[in-house]
Amino acid sequence: MSTGPEVLELPADQYKRTKIDPDKPPLPYRAGLQLRIKRHIPPPPFGIGYFQEPTHPHHLSWDELDQFSTPSEYCLQRRPPRETRSHRDQSIHTLDIVEEIATGDHRGAQIVACRTDLVPDRIVAAKIYDPLYYNFPDVDPVYQSDADYSCEAFAYRRLEIVGVDGLHVPAYYGSWTFEMPFAREPVRMRAVCMILMERLPGPSVYALLKSGHFVDSTEGWPPNSVEGSLLNGKAAQILVTKCRIAGEEKELRLNLRNRLNVLRKSMELYTILLVLGVKQRDLAARNIVVTNVDEAGDLGVAIADFSIACVLGTSISKDPMLTTWPSPAVEARFEDNISEWVPELGTNRYDEEYKFGKWVSLCWPRGRYEESDP
Ligand SMILES: Nc1ncnc2c1ncn2[C@@H]1O[C@H](COP(=O)(O)OP(=O)(O)OP(=O)(O)O)[C@@H](O)[C@H]1O
Ligand SMILES: [Mg+2]
Repeated sequence: MSTGPEVLELPADQYKRTKIDPDKPPLPYRAGLQLRIKRHIPPPPFGIGYFQEPTHPHHLSWDELDQFSTPSEYCLQRRPPRETRSHRDQSIHTLDIVEEIATGDHRGAQIVACRTDLVPDRIVAAKIYDPLYYNFPDVDPVYQSDADYSCEAFAYRRLEIVGVDGLHVPAYYGSWTFEMPFAREPVRMRAVCMILMERLPGPSVYALLKSGHFVDSTEGWPPNSVEGSLLNGKAAQILVTKCRIAGEEKELRLNLRNRLNVLRKSMELYTILLVLGVKQRDLAARNIVVTNVDEAGDLGVAIADFSIACVLGTSISKDPMLTTWPSPAVEARFEDNISEWVPELGTNRYDEEYKFGKWVSLCWPRGRYEESDP
Protein backbone atom coordinates (compact mmCIF):
# COMPACT_ATOMS: atom_id res chain seq x y z
CA MET A 1 0.00 0.00 0.00
CA SER A 2 1.16 3.52 -0.74
CA THR A 3 2.58 5.67 2.04
CA GLY A 4 1.55 8.78 0.07
CA PRO A 5 -1.01 11.40 1.05
CA GLU A 6 -4.01 10.83 3.22
CA VAL A 7 -6.38 8.09 2.13
CA LEU A 8 -10.12 8.70 2.10
CA GLU A 9 -12.19 5.57 2.78
CA LEU A 10 -15.30 5.13 0.62
CA PRO A 11 -18.16 2.64 0.92
CA ALA A 12 -17.02 -0.85 -0.05
CA ASP A 13 -19.26 -1.01 -3.11
CA GLN A 14 -17.57 2.04 -4.59
CA TYR A 15 -13.95 2.04 -5.62
CA LYS A 16 -11.64 0.76 -3.00
CA ARG A 17 -10.08 4.03 -2.00
CA THR A 18 -9.24 7.38 -3.46
CA LYS A 19 -6.55 9.82 -2.53
CA ILE A 20 -6.42 13.48 -1.80
CA ASP A 21 -4.73 14.93 -4.87
CA PRO A 22 -3.35 18.37 -3.98
CA ASP A 23 -1.43 18.67 -7.26
CA LYS A 24 -4.42 18.18 -9.53
CA PRO A 25 -5.11 21.45 -11.39
CA PRO A 26 -8.76 22.59 -11.59
CA LEU A 27 -10.47 21.68 -14.85
CA PRO A 28 -8.79 23.88 -17.47
CA TYR A 29 -11.22 23.34 -20.35
CA ARG A 30 -13.14 26.58 -19.95
CA ALA A 31 -14.06 29.39 -22.35
CA GLY A 32 -10.97 31.55 -22.89
CA LEU A 33 -8.39 28.72 -22.90
CA GLN A 34 -6.14 28.65 -25.96
CA LEU A 35 -4.50 25.38 -27.01
CA ARG A 36 -1.76 24.75 -29.55
CA ILE A 37 -2.67 21.54 -31.35
CA LYS A 38 -1.03 19.24 -33.88
CA ARG A 39 -2.19 16.17 -35.73
CA HIS A 40 -2.02 12.83 -33.96
CA ILE A 41 -2.37 9.25 -35.12
CA PRO A 42 -4.57 7.43 -32.60
CA PRO A 43 -3.68 3.96 -31.32
CA PRO A 44 -5.57 1.08 -32.95
CA PRO A 45 -8.98 0.80 -31.29
CA PHE A 46 -9.23 -1.38 -28.25
CA GLY A 47 -12.10 -2.51 -26.13
CA ILE A 48 -15.22 -4.51 -26.82
CA GLY A 49 -15.68 -5.31 -30.48
CA TYR A 50 -11.97 -5.60 -31.32
CA PHE A 51 -9.42 -8.40 -31.01
CA GLN A 52 -6.75 -7.41 -28.55
CA GLU A 53 -3.10 -7.47 -29.54
CA PRO A 54 -0.55 -8.43 -26.87
CA THR A 55 0.86 -4.89 -26.99
CA HIS A 56 -2.45 -3.30 -26.05
CA PRO A 57 -2.55 -1.48 -22.74
CA HIS A 58 -4.32 -3.32 -19.98
CA HIS A 59 -6.79 -1.99 -17.46
CA LEU A 60 -4.98 -1.49 -14.16
CA SER A 61 -6.57 -2.93 -11.04
CA TRP A 62 -7.10 -0.73 -8.02
CA ASP A 63 -4.16 -2.39 -6.31
CA GLU A 64 -1.93 -1.45 -9.25
CA LEU A 65 -3.32 2.10 -9.32
CA ASP A 66 -2.65 2.31 -5.61
CA GLN A 67 1.09 2.06 -6.26
CA PHE A 68 1.02 5.67 -7.51
CA SER A 69 1.05 8.36 -4.85
CA THR A 70 -1.83 10.32 -6.46
CA PRO A 71 -4.07 10.07 -9.56
CA SER A 72 -2.15 13.05 -11.02
CA GLU A 73 1.12 11.20 -10.61
CA TYR A 74 -0.39 8.17 -12.31
CA CYS A 75 -1.64 10.27 -15.27
CA LEU A 76 1.79 11.89 -15.58
CA GLN A 77 3.72 8.65 -15.51
CA ARG A 78 1.55 6.34 -17.57
CA ARG A 79 0.51 8.73 -20.31
CA PRO A 80 0.63 7.88 -23.19
CA PRO A 81 0.19 4.14 -22.63
CA ARG A 82 0.99 3.42 -26.21
CA GLU A 83 3.12 5.54 -28.50
CA THR A 84 1.96 5.90 -32.09
CA ARG A 85 4.02 6.98 -35.04
CA SER A 86 4.25 10.75 -35.58
CA HIS A 87 1.93 12.32 -38.11
CA ARG A 88 3.79 13.62 -41.17
CA ASP A 89 2.10 17.00 -40.72
CA GLN A 90 3.67 18.49 -37.60
CA SER A 91 2.29 22.00 -38.12
CA ILE A 92 0.83 23.74 -35.08
CA HIS A 93 -2.66 25.22 -35.09
CA THR A 94 -4.48 27.26 -32.49
CA LEU A 95 -7.74 26.36 -30.85
CA ASP A 96 -9.67 28.82 -28.67
CA ILE A 97 -12.42 27.46 -26.44
CA VAL A 98 -15.46 29.72 -26.72
CA GLU A 99 -18.11 27.72 -24.87
CA GLU A 100 -18.47 24.61 -22.74
CA ILE A 101 -20.90 22.02 -24.12
CA ALA A 102 -20.46 19.13 -21.67
CA THR A 103 -17.62 19.63 -19.22
CA GLY A 104 -16.81 18.82 -15.62
CA ASP A 105 -14.54 16.88 -13.35
CA HIS A 106 -17.28 14.34 -12.75
CA ARG A 107 -17.54 13.04 -16.32
CA GLY A 108 -15.32 11.39 -18.93
CA ALA A 109 -14.38 13.33 -22.05
CA GLN A 110 -14.82 17.12 -22.15
CA ILE A 111 -16.84 18.59 -25.03
CA VAL A 112 -16.28 22.24 -25.87
CA ALA A 113 -17.09 24.63 -28.71
CA CYS A 114 -14.03 26.28 -30.26
CA ARG A 115 -12.65 28.52 -32.92
CA THR A 116 -9.64 27.29 -34.86
CA ASP A 117 -7.60 28.51 -37.81
CA LEU A 118 -8.19 25.05 -39.33
CA VAL A 119 -11.86 25.76 -40.00
CA PRO A 120 -11.85 29.55 -39.93
CA ASP A 121 -15.43 30.25 -40.89
CA ARG A 122 -17.26 28.31 -38.18
CA ILE A 123 -17.39 27.18 -34.59
CA VAL A 124 -16.33 23.54 -34.20
CA ALA A 125 -16.66 21.04 -31.35
CA ALA A 126 -13.67 19.40 -29.64
CA LYS A 127 -13.94 16.20 -27.62
CA ILE A 128 -10.98 16.08 -25.25
CA TYR A 129 -9.99 12.76 -23.64
CA ASP A 130 -8.00 13.92 -20.63
CA PRO A 131 -7.60 11.07 -18.11
CA LEU A 132 -6.95 13.50 -15.26
CA TYR A 133 -10.63 14.48 -15.38
CA TYR A 134 -12.05 10.98 -15.94
CA ASN A 135 -13.75 10.18 -12.65
CA PHE A 136 -15.57 6.89 -12.65
CA PRO A 137 -15.63 4.27 -9.91
CA ASP A 138 -13.53 1.20 -10.71
CA VAL A 139 -12.18 2.63 -13.95
CA ASP A 140 -8.54 3.05 -14.91
CA PRO A 141 -8.73 6.61 -16.32
CA VAL A 142 -5.73 6.35 -18.64
CA TYR A 143 -6.96 3.10 -20.15
CA GLN A 144 -10.53 4.37 -20.47
CA SER A 145 -9.70 7.75 -22.02
CA ASP A 146 -7.43 6.09 -24.56
CA ALA A 147 -10.03 3.40 -25.30
CA ASP A 148 -12.66 6.11 -25.91
CA TYR A 149 -10.29 8.13 -28.08
CA SER A 150 -9.10 5.17 -30.14
CA CYS A 151 -12.61 3.79 -30.73
CA GLU A 152 -14.17 7.15 -31.54
CA ALA A 153 -11.41 8.28 -33.92
CA PHE A 154 -11.57 4.89 -35.70
CA ALA A 155 -15.36 5.12 -36.08
CA TYR A 156 -15.18 8.68 -37.43
CA ARG A 157 -12.50 7.63 -39.92
CA ARG A 158 -14.85 4.96 -41.28
CA LEU A 159 -17.72 7.45 -41.45
CA GLU A 160 -15.43 9.89 -43.24
CA ILE A 161 -14.21 7.26 -45.71
CA VAL A 162 -17.73 6.16 -46.63
CA GLY A 163 -18.65 9.82 -46.99
CA VAL A 164 -21.42 10.18 -44.41
CA ASP A 165 -19.79 12.38 -41.78
CA GLY A 166 -21.57 15.71 -41.99
CA LEU A 167 -24.80 13.91 -42.95
CA HIS A 168 -26.61 13.05 -39.73
CA VAL A 169 -23.35 12.59 -37.85
CA PRO A 170 -20.96 15.49 -37.23
CA ALA A 171 -18.42 16.25 -39.98
CA TYR A 172 -15.03 14.99 -38.80
CA TYR A 173 -11.93 17.21 -38.66
CA GLY A 174 -9.40 14.65 -37.45
CA SER A 175 -7.51 13.57 -34.34
CA TRP A 176 -5.16 15.92 -32.51
CA THR A 177 -2.85 16.28 -29.55
CA PHE A 178 -1.70 19.13 -27.35
CA GLU A 179 0.54 19.53 -24.34
CA MET A 180 -0.85 20.52 -20.96
CA PRO A 181 1.58 21.89 -18.39
CA PHE A 182 1.38 20.26 -15.03
CA ALA A 183 1.82 23.18 -12.66
CA ARG A 184 4.39 21.92 -10.23
CA GLU A 185 8.13 22.55 -10.04
CA PRO A 186 9.76 21.38 -12.20
CA VAL A 187 6.92 21.93 -14.69
CA ARG A 188 6.19 18.72 -16.56
CA MET A 189 4.10 18.40 -19.70
CA ARG A 190 1.33 15.89 -20.41
CA ALA A 191 0.17 14.97 -23.91
CA VAL A 192 -3.63 15.01 -24.21
CA CYS A 193 -5.60 13.76 -27.24
CA MET A 194 -8.80 15.00 -28.79
CA ILE A 195 -10.93 14.88 -31.92
CA LEU A 196 -12.39 17.84 -33.76
CA MET A 197 -15.78 17.75 -35.41
CA GLU A 198 -18.62 19.89 -36.62
CA ARG A 199 -20.58 21.54 -33.85
CA LEU A 200 -24.15 20.36 -34.27
CA PRO A 201 -26.66 23.22 -34.18
CA GLY A 202 -29.06 22.11 -31.45
CA PRO A 203 -29.26 20.49 -28.02
CA SER A 204 -29.60 16.78 -27.30
CA VAL A 205 -33.05 15.22 -27.13
CA TYR A 206 -32.34 14.61 -23.43
CA ALA A 207 -31.72 18.35 -22.90
CA LEU A 208 -34.99 19.14 -24.73
CA LEU A 209 -36.83 16.76 -22.45
CA LYS A 210 -35.28 18.16 -19.28
CA SER A 211 -36.00 21.77 -20.19
CA GLY A 212 -39.64 21.09 -21.06
CA HIS A 213 -42.88 19.86 -19.52
CA PHE A 214 -45.86 17.88 -20.75
CA VAL A 215 -49.33 19.39 -21.10
CA ASP A 216 -52.59 17.63 -21.89
CA SER A 217 -53.99 18.11 -25.36
CA THR A 218 -57.22 17.33 -27.10
CA GLU A 219 -55.40 16.32 -30.24
CA GLY A 220 -56.91 13.04 -31.32
CA TRP A 221 -55.37 10.40 -33.56
CA PRO A 222 -57.48 7.90 -35.50
CA PRO A 223 -57.34 4.55 -33.66
CA ASN A 224 -56.06 2.86 -36.80
CA SER A 225 -53.13 5.29 -37.15
CA VAL A 226 -49.66 4.44 -35.85
CA GLU A 227 -50.04 7.02 -33.08
CA GLY A 228 -53.65 6.18 -32.24
CA SER A 229 -52.76 2.54 -31.74
CA LEU A 230 -50.65 3.51 -28.73
CA LEU A 231 -53.33 5.52 -27.00
CA ASN A 232 -56.28 3.20 -26.43
CA GLY A 233 -58.61 6.15 -27.05
CA LYS A 234 -56.84 8.46 -24.57
CA ALA A 235 -55.53 11.88 -25.60
CA ALA A 236 -51.84 12.30 -26.32
CA GLN A 237 -49.72 14.91 -24.62
CA ILE A 238 -47.65 17.80 -25.94
CA LEU A 239 -44.09 18.42 -24.82
CA VAL A 240 -43.67 22.17 -24.45
CA THR A 241 -40.02 23.04 -24.53
CA LYS A 242 -37.52 25.47 -25.92
CA CYS A 243 -34.40 25.07 -27.85
CA ARG A 244 -31.52 27.10 -29.22
CA ILE A 245 -30.74 26.04 -32.78
CA ALA A 246 -27.77 27.68 -34.52
CA GLY A 247 -28.04 30.58 -32.07
CA GLU A 248 -31.77 31.10 -32.57
CA GLU A 249 -34.22 30.56 -29.67
CA LYS A 250 -37.27 28.49 -30.58
CA GLU A 251 -40.35 27.57 -28.58
CA LEU A 252 -41.40 24.01 -29.43
CA ARG A 253 -44.67 22.16 -28.96
CA LEU A 254 -43.95 18.54 -29.77
CA ASN A 255 -46.93 16.28 -30.24
CA LEU A 256 -46.90 12.50 -30.16
CA ARG A 257 -46.11 12.19 -33.85
CA ASN A 258 -43.19 14.64 -33.60
CA ARG A 259 -41.73 12.70 -30.67
CA LEU A 260 -42.24 9.29 -32.28
CA ASN A 261 -40.61 10.60 -35.44
CA VAL A 262 -37.47 11.37 -33.42
CA LEU A 263 -37.36 7.73 -32.30
CA ARG A 264 -38.05 6.44 -35.79
CA LYS A 265 -35.43 8.65 -37.46
CA SER A 266 -32.80 7.81 -34.84
CA MET A 267 -33.44 4.10 -35.20
CA GLU A 268 -33.22 4.30 -38.98
CA LEU A 269 -30.06 6.35 -38.78
CA TYR A 270 -28.52 3.89 -36.32
CA THR A 271 -29.28 1.08 -38.79
CA ILE A 272 -27.89 2.97 -41.77
CA LEU A 273 -24.62 3.55 -39.88
CA LEU A 274 -24.57 -0.15 -39.04
CA VAL A 275 -24.92 -1.09 -42.70
CA LEU A 276 -22.02 1.25 -43.45
CA GLY A 277 -19.93 -0.64 -40.89
CA VAL A 278 -20.24 1.45 -37.72
CA LYS A 279 -22.14 -0.05 -34.79
CA GLN A 280 -22.64 2.94 -32.50
CA ARG A 281 -23.80 0.88 -29.49
CA ASP A 282 -25.04 3.82 -27.40
CA LEU A 283 -28.39 4.94 -28.79
CA ALA A 284 -29.73 7.19 -26.05
CA ALA A 285 -31.52 10.54 -25.77
CA ARG A 286 -28.32 12.31 -24.66
CA ASN A 287 -26.54 11.11 -27.82
CA ILE A 288 -29.23 12.22 -30.28
CA VAL A 289 -28.75 15.88 -31.17
CA VAL A 290 -31.30 18.14 -32.85
CA THR A 291 -30.19 19.63 -36.17
CA ASN A 292 -33.31 21.50 -37.30
CA VAL A 293 -37.04 21.89 -36.76
CA ASP A 294 -39.57 22.12 -39.58
CA GLU A 295 -42.91 23.91 -39.59
CA ALA A 296 -44.80 20.79 -38.51
CA GLY A 297 -42.59 20.52 -35.42
CA ASP A 298 -40.61 17.59 -36.80
CA LEU A 299 -37.01 17.51 -35.64
CA GLY A 300 -34.01 16.65 -37.77
CA VAL A 301 -31.59 14.57 -35.71
CA ALA A 302 -27.96 13.49 -35.77
CA ILE A 303 -26.20 10.81 -33.75
CA ALA A 304 -23.19 11.96 -31.72
CA ASP A 305 -20.88 9.93 -29.47
CA PHE A 306 -18.95 7.05 -31.01
CA SER A 307 -16.75 6.44 -27.97
CA ILE A 308 -17.92 2.85 -27.53
CA ALA A 309 -18.68 2.23 -31.23
CA CYS A 310 -17.25 -0.73 -33.16
CA VAL A 311 -16.18 -0.62 -36.78
CA LEU A 312 -17.14 -3.82 -38.60
CA GLY A 313 -15.17 -5.84 -41.10
CA THR A 314 -11.56 -4.77 -40.43
CA SER A 315 -8.74 -7.20 -39.64
CA ILE A 316 -9.10 -6.44 -35.93
CA SER A 317 -12.92 -6.31 -35.80
CA LYS A 318 -14.72 -9.18 -34.12
CA ASP A 319 -17.79 -8.69 -36.35
CA PRO A 320 -17.88 -8.73 -40.16
CA MET A 321 -19.76 -6.27 -42.35
CA LEU A 322 -23.45 -7.08 -42.67
CA THR A 323 -24.51 -8.75 -45.87
CA THR A 324 -28.25 -8.10 -45.61
CA TRP A 325 -30.18 -4.98 -44.73
CA PRO A 326 -31.11 -5.34 -41.06
CA SER A 327 -34.27 -4.16 -39.38
CA PRO A 328 -34.18 -1.08 -37.15
CA ALA A 329 -36.79 -2.99 -35.15
CA VAL A 330 -34.15 -5.60 -34.31
CA GLU A 331 -30.85 -3.71 -34.35
CA ALA A 332 -31.60 -0.28 -32.90
CA ARG A 333 -32.12 -0.60 -29.15
CA PHE A 334 -32.42 2.40 -26.89
CA GLU A 335 -30.09 2.30 -23.91
CA ASP A 336 -32.22 4.67 -21.85
CA ASN A 337 -35.81 4.97 -20.77
CA ILE A 338 -37.70 6.17 -23.83
CA SER A 339 -41.03 6.37 -22.03
CA GLU A 340 -39.77 9.65 -20.57
CA TRP A 341 -39.84 11.03 -24.11
CA VAL A 342 -43.06 9.21 -25.02
CA PRO A 343 -45.04 8.81 -21.77
CA GLU A 344 -47.88 7.46 -23.92
CA LEU A 345 -45.89 4.20 -24.06
CA GLY A 346 -46.98 3.41 -20.53
CA THR A 347 -45.97 3.63 -16.95
CA ASN A 348 -44.18 0.35 -16.43
CA ARG A 349 -41.50 -1.63 -18.21
CA TYR A 350 -43.96 -4.25 -19.46
CA ASP A 351 -46.33 -1.63 -20.88
CA GLU A 352 -43.48 0.23 -22.46
CA GLU A 353 -42.03 -2.83 -24.13
CA TYR A 354 -45.42 -4.00 -25.30
CA LYS A 355 -46.50 -0.66 -26.79
CA PHE A 356 -43.07 0.14 -28.14
CA GLY A 357 -42.99 -3.28 -29.83
CA LYS A 358 -46.41 -2.59 -31.31
CA TRP A 359 -45.29 0.78 -32.62
CA VAL A 360 -42.10 -0.73 -34.06
CA SER A 361 -44.04 -3.42 -35.90
CA LEU A 362 -46.28 -0.73 -37.40
CA CYS A 363 -43.29 1.33 -38.49
CA TRP A 364 -41.44 -1.55 -40.11
CA PRO A 365 -44.24 -3.99 -40.90
CA ARG A 366 -42.07 -6.32 -42.91
CA GLY A 367 -39.46 -6.32 -40.19
CA ARG A 368 -37.15 -4.49 -42.57
CA TYR A 369 -36.45 -0.92 -43.44
CA GLU A 370 -37.77 -0.08 -46.86
CA GLU A 371 -38.01 3.23 -48.64
CA SER A 372 -41.77 2.90 -48.84
CA ASP A 373 -42.14 2.57 -45.04
CA PRO A 374 -43.61 5.58 -43.20
N1 LIG B 1 -20.55 17.67 -32.28
C1 LIG B 1 -21.35 18.09 -31.31
N2 LIG B 1 -22.05 19.22 -31.43
C2 LIG B 1 -22.89 19.66 -30.46
N3 LIG B 1 -23.08 19.01 -29.29
C3 LIG B 1 -22.41 17.87 -29.10
C4 LIG B 1 -21.52 17.34 -30.09
N4 LIG B 1 -20.99 16.20 -29.63
C5 LIG B 1 -21.53 16.01 -28.41
N5 LIG B 1 -22.38 17.01 -28.08
C6 LIG B 1 -23.15 17.14 -26.83
O1 LIG B 1 -22.28 16.85 -25.75
C7 LIG B 1 -22.79 15.75 -24.99
C8 LIG B 1 -21.64 14.84 -24.57
O2 LIG B 1 -20.96 14.38 -25.73
P1 LIG B 1 -20.64 12.84 -25.93
O3 LIG B 1 -21.90 12.08 -25.83
O4 LIG B 1 -19.86 12.70 -27.20
O5 LIG B 1 -19.69 12.59 -24.69
P2 LIG B 1 -19.53 11.32 -23.77
O6 LIG B 1 -18.65 11.73 -22.64
O7 LIG B 1 -19.06 10.19 -24.58
O8 LIG B 1 -21.02 11.13 -23.26
P3 LIG B 1 -21.83 10.14 -22.36
O9 LIG B 1 -22.36 11.05 -21.29
O10 LIG B 1 -22.89 9.69 -23.32
O11 LIG B 1 -20.92 9.07 -21.90
C9 LIG B 1 -23.80 15.05 -25.88
O12 LIG B 1 -24.80 14.50 -25.09
C10 LIG B 1 -24.30 16.16 -26.79
O13 LIG B 1 -25.40 16.79 -26.17
MG1 LIG C 1 -22.82 10.68 -24.94
